Amino acid sequence: MSDKKPPLRSQKWFNNPDDPEMTALYLERYLNYGLTREELQSGKPIIGIAQTGSDLSPCNRHHIELSKRVRDGVISAGGTVIEIPVHPIQETGKRPTAMLDRNLAYLSLVETLYGYPIDGVVLNIGCDKTTPALLMAAATVNIPAIALSVGPMLNGWYRGERTGSGTIVWKARELLAAGEIDDDGFLELVSSSATSVGYCNTMGTASTMNSLAEALGMQLPGSAAIPAAYRKRGQISYETGKRVVQMVHDDLRPTDIMTREAFENAVVVNSAIGGSTNAPIHLNAIARHLGVELDNDDWQRLGHKVPLLVNLQPAGAYLGEDYFHAGGVPAVIGGLLGAGLLPHPDVITANGKTMAENCGDKRTETPDVIKPIAEPMTKEAGFINLSGNLFDSAIMKTSVISEEFRDRYLSNPDDPDAFEGRAVVFDGPEDFHKRIDDESLAIDEHCVLIMRGAGPIGYPGGAEVVNMRPPAYLLKRGIHALPCVGDGRQSGTSGSPSILNASPEAADGGGLALVATGDRIRIDLRAFTANMLVEDAELERRRNALPDRPFAPPSQSPWQDIFREKVRPFSEGMVLDGATDFQDIARKST
Ligand code: FES
Ligand code: MG
Repeated sequence: MSDKKPPLRSQKWFNNPDDPEMTALYLERYLNYGLTREELQSGKPIIGIAQTGSDLSPCNRHHIELSKRVRDGVISAGGTVIEIPVHPIQETGKRPTAMLDRNLAYLSLVETLYGYPIDGVVLNIGCDKTTPALLMAAATVNIPAIALSVGPMLNGWYRGERTGSGTIVWKARELLAAGEIDDDGFLELVSSSATSVGYCNTMGTASTMNSLAEALGMQLPGSAAIPAAYRKRGQISYETGKRVVQMVHDDLRPTDIMTREAFENAVVVNSAIGGSTNAPIHLNAIARHLGVELDNDDWQRLGHKVPLLVNLQPAGAYLGEDYFHAGGVPAVIGGLLGAGLLPHPDVITANGKTMAENCGDKRTETPDVIKPIAEPMTKEAGFINLSGNLFDSAIMKTSVISEEFRDRYLSNPDDPDAFEGRAVVFDGPEDFHKRIDDESLAIDEHCVLIMRGAGPIGYPGGAEVVNMRPPAYLLKRGIHALPCVGDGRQSGTSGSPSILNASPEAADGGGLALVATGDRIRIDLRAFTANMLVEDAELERRRNALPDRPFAPPSQSPWQDIFREKVRPFSEGMVLDGATDFQDIARKST
């Protein structure tokens, strides 16, 4: 925050005494739908609402309603609203993957916020990739910005049991494969989780990223967890609109809030909530756009030993409404603060107060849903960062691996036991679906399923496919998960012992390009290594035999082509090469 109020950047367009002619040209067209000169020229902050809600984006669609309350808040605080359409990103609707569009929405919002008369912005976040895309854009442009979550759907129910978004799909898939339900039963079970407006009600990538936007300080405290359909959601929208006007007056910008310290807090909170493995990709990306250093080693170093407190599916039992009633993010942070586990209590947040001021006295209100720090779900619940001859960096979420696997391979530091298994390799998700139930692969509980060709280049944007189910004949025997390794991602709503986001990917020269079905794989979770036990000379021979552009089928659209040309690996946030050179661009131009 600077002491001196800078002039509003919108006045360069709408009220520039040095250039009355351009002022007139800029101004006249914004009058044509009823805005007045008073609203545009009297020094009222022009507040953009970055609108991610549309018919195409059901998870965020309720933002269309909520934006009316944001608008009321902005106007009541003396601002003027201009709503900004954002390139749509719907996790469940976009082919080949919504992840491909994160950077596209980022680019277009940067251009919009930079190139138009916007003084401050409300970021309508929600569905998985909308949150990072908007925070990345706010980071690059660096005008006062506040995030507003659309909120989760109400809890899903089926025959007296909670059914959570995404998580129920994995369960239904097993029931279908085992012949316990038919196709209609599958649809009925899965759609029971989609109860109302809002995003996934599990602790998937959406709840994770919305919680982390609050943990970073970019939302009003307590706002992330409010269910979309609750009246409080409308009320916090109004408060958010009011607050952003004051943030413009105070010149409180993303670089003031999203500091290295704020990211360290968010990494810790991610472990405590049992956050998605997509979080490191997205937070590493946002950080890079701010010039803050953050990598997968930080996630292990800061996050691995932090306990899991939030008992939400997929790691636990409950859903979004329960999370809200238990106190949401402030209760999690309050618990961490009380135990001295939040590294930086004094960071400033969007409401102008510190994290400690906002959350210091907050504690869980439903101890079964948000556990007190003394009785966590799991003691060490964060990610570990593995490396070896399969990849330089890959993430494993330890909170979802089974007790048995954890006890045997992770918890006891004196035990040298490491997991060894036979590799069964699939080239992309289509190959997996075609062959997984093929009994000639002879998959058993001593196998490691490997997926390659699923990274940012191989499957443009990176497929969410590394949560591979065991073959039907193993499911029938009660084996529900096998260790998985892949250069793609995993849905935040699933929970198998998976090593994900392997970087570099097979299509980018990574070691996964060389692994073959039948190789021995050794995964040592205590040493943080994952290797194929294959002689170097043999690996060299395999590398020389690779075709020109392995594991990278042709692009299907212009953006896919540009994206693949420019994209950095998952470990570097999947940002576009060169885009992170542009920082603080609004201030540089004023
Ligand atoms: Fe949109 Fe999960 S699919 S939030
Ligand atoms: Mg997802």
